[in-house]
Parts: sequence; structure tokens; C-alpha cells
Amino acid sequence: MSNTSNATPIKPIQSRDERLRLEFNDWARAGRGPGMEKGHRPVGEQAIELMRISSEAQVIDIGCGSGWAARLMAEKAREGRVVGIDVSDEMIRVARESSAAVSNVEFHVASAEKLPFDDAEFMRAFSMESLYYYTDMLAALKEIRRVLRAGGRFVTVVDLYEENEPSHQWIDQLKVAVHLLSESQYCSLFESAGFSNVQSQRLYDPALIPEDYQGGSFKSREDYIRYREAGSLMLVGEVAA
Ligand SMILES: C[S@@+](CC[C@H](N)C(=O)[O-])C[C@H]1O[C@@H](n2cnc3c(N)ncnc32)[C@H](O)[C@@H]1O
Repeated sequence: MSNTSNATPIKPIQSRDERLRLEFNDWARAGRGPGMEKGHRPVGEQAIELMRISSEAQVIDIGCGSGWAARLMAEKAREGRVVGIDVSDEMIRVARESSAAVSNVEFHVASAEKLPFDDAEFMRAFSMESLYYYTDMLAALKEIRRVLRAGGRFVTVVDLYEENEPSHQWIDQLKVAVHLLSESQYCSLFESAGFSNVQSQRLYDPALIPEDYQGGSFKSREDYIRYREAGSLMLVGEVAA
């Protein structure tokens, strides 16, 4: 018989997805979903424009957060369907609440590494500021490619990447682990996942930087200026027809 009275409580082992779920649930409860829309939309809109979404398109938004991009894409896919997925159930709750009036958009709790969809179900896939959180990015990219049909396209934007040096300060600020990849490493990963015609491009937020900038994500206004000058990294991969 074992005596457990003085035993150290066993800390439950959390999977990486569970840690991500809990962290982004906290973000959602703190109202950071709409805040991310404000920060990401100026560049996200440019990327979505480049996706050339047709009116009958089937689209997936991976790591959709509060669902702003899914709603925007649903305006373009008027006779189609947009599905947002996120590992955070609280983000999905916010996304559903904010999209009650949009008939062609739906949201599901799911991990990017295990998408609950059929092969070739979508024509377009989008992901904004989400990819580098995934435990196994290659597995997620293979899943995204699997759910895209021939001729389909995946467009993603990341702000944390090797060449954008000021963005590296987020790594210590974040409570979850992230991947730091260079532009060429991202391109290679896309190719390893089976995407063809892989391209990368920088996108720039056109908003003026206020003189009295005091954002919380950067140590100084100078860092923020350098971050904005480096731009957001957009990656595009296609599924060969
Ligand atoms: C920085 S937020 C960006 C949210 C949204 N795309 C936007 O632009 O506002 C990253 C999102 O990715 C989600 N996420 C992180 N890891 C994920 C995973 N493995 N599968 C699905 N979603 C994930 C988070 O829950 C979070 O909502």
C-alpha cells in the first residue's frame, strides 16, 4: 500500500494544443480578439484581396481568432461557404457571436494539425498570424494542402519571422512556444508539404505611426518603426492542378 499523504501533487501533463487552447482562451476573455482585428486587418485585407475569392468559393480560415477575416471572406464568397477553425473554444465562441448575422460562415474548434474536413473540400485557405504557434507546422501545412482541391491556394501572413528582428522580442513575451523561421525556411516548408509555385512577398500596413506611440508589443517606438518597415511576410502555396 502506498502512502500518498505527503506526495507532491502530480502536475497534469498538458499537450501543446491544450496549452495553446488555454492561452488563447485567456486572450479571448481579455477581449484581445477585436484588438487583433485592428492590428492585423490592414495587411490581412491586402492578402485576402490577392486570394481572388470567387462568389461560390469554399474557403477555410485556420486559426481564425474572433473571425474577422472569415466574415470578410464570406462577403466575397457570397454563394459559397467560409469555415473558420481555431484551437481556442473561447475564440470560436466570440467568432460565432460576432457572426450571427452572416449566413455563409461557420466556426469549429479544431487543431490545424488535424482538420476535421474531407480531402479537397476547399478552394482557398487563409491563415493570419497563426502558423508559427503550431507544434508541428509541417503536419499542419500537409493538412491544409490535403483539404485544398487541385488548383487551390493557401495564403498566410506572419509578422514574427527571422528577417523582422524587432518581432523577436515577442518570443520572450509570449507564454507559449513559437517557431522562428526565415522567409526561405518558410518557403522550403511549404514545398516539403507538397505546395507548388510557392511565393513570398512583404505586405505593409499603410497607417501612420503616431508620434506618441506607446504600444505594449515593442520596447520602443523605434523598434515598432523597424518592425513596420520590415513588413508582414505573406506566403502563398498552390495545389498543382
Ligand atoms: C495571434 S492569433 C490570430 C487570430 C486571427 N487570425 C487574427 O488575425 O485575428 C493566433 C490564433 O491562432 C490560434 N491557434 C494557435 N495554435 C493553433 C492550432 N494548432 N490550431 C488552430 N488554431 C491555433 C489561436 O487560438 C489564435 O486564435
